[in-house]
Amino acid sequence: MTEEDEENNTISCKVVLIGNSGVGKTSIINQYISDEFNDEQITTTGSTFCTKIMKFEEKNAEISFEIWDTAGQEKYRCLTKIFYKNASIIILVYDITRKDSFEDIKNYWFNEIKESSNENIILAIVGNKSDLINEEEVNENEVRNYAEEKGMFFYSTSAKMKEGINELFNNVGLKFLEKYEQNNDDIFSSRSNTKIENVNNTTNEKKRNCCK
Ligand code: GTP
Repeated sequence: MTEEDEENNTISCKVVLIGNSGVGKTSIINQYISDEFNDEQITTTGSTFCTKIMKFEEKNAEISFEIWDTAGQEKYRCLTKIFYKNASIIILVYDITRKDSFEDIKNYWFNEIKESSNENIILAIVGNKSDLINEEEVNENEVRNYAEEKGMFFYSTSAKMKEGINELFNNVGLKFLEKYEQNNDDIFSSRSNTKIENVNNTTNEKKRNCCK
C-alpha cells in the first residue's frame, strides 16, 4: 500500500451477519459500534447497516466496515439472500444455549451462502452468549471441527459482556486485508475516499437503538 493510499484511502469491506432469530446478531453489532447492550429482544424485520472505520497499524491500512444486520426469522430469509452476493465477510452466528441454532447453520445457512457468495468470501462462525456457559447446548469442539472442515474461522463471543467482539472484527479484518493484498480487484472490494469517522445508518427502530 502506498503512502498516498494510507493517507487518503479507506478500503471498504461489506460484512453480513446471519443466523437464526434471537442468536444475538444485532447485539454483537450494537456492542461493536456503540458499546451498548439491550436485554430486550426486538426482532429485526429488514436489513440495516452501520459503518465503522478501523485502523490496522500492522498493515498500514484502514477498513471501512459496512456491517449488515439481517433478519433471522424464517419469513424474512428470502430477503437476506440479496445481501450475500457482494459481501467480503459473512459471519454466521449461533447461540451456544440453542442446539437448533447451530444445526440450522449446518443445514441451512451454510448452504445458502455457498450458493450466493463469491469464492473469495471470508467466513466466520460465532458462538454467541458465552456468558451463559452453564446453559451450553452446543459442544464447542464439534463446532471447531465443523468450522475447520468448511474453511471457516471460529470465534466465541458474549455480546452481553462485550467479550470476543473486538477480537472477532480485528481478526476477520486482518484476514480481509491479507486477501485484499492478494486479490486487489473490484469484485472483491472497492476503494473509497472516506473520511475517518464513524458513520451509522439506520432504517428501522431496532437499528436506531443499535446505531446512535
Ligand atoms: P433477530 O433480529 O430476530 O434476527 O435476532 P438477533 O439475532 O438480532 O438477536 P438479538 O441481538 O436481538 O438478541 C436476542 C436476545 O438475546 C436479546 O434479548 C439479547 O439481549 C440477548 N442476547 C444477545 N446477545 C447476548 C449475549 O451475549 N448474552 C446473553 N445473555 N444474552 C444475549
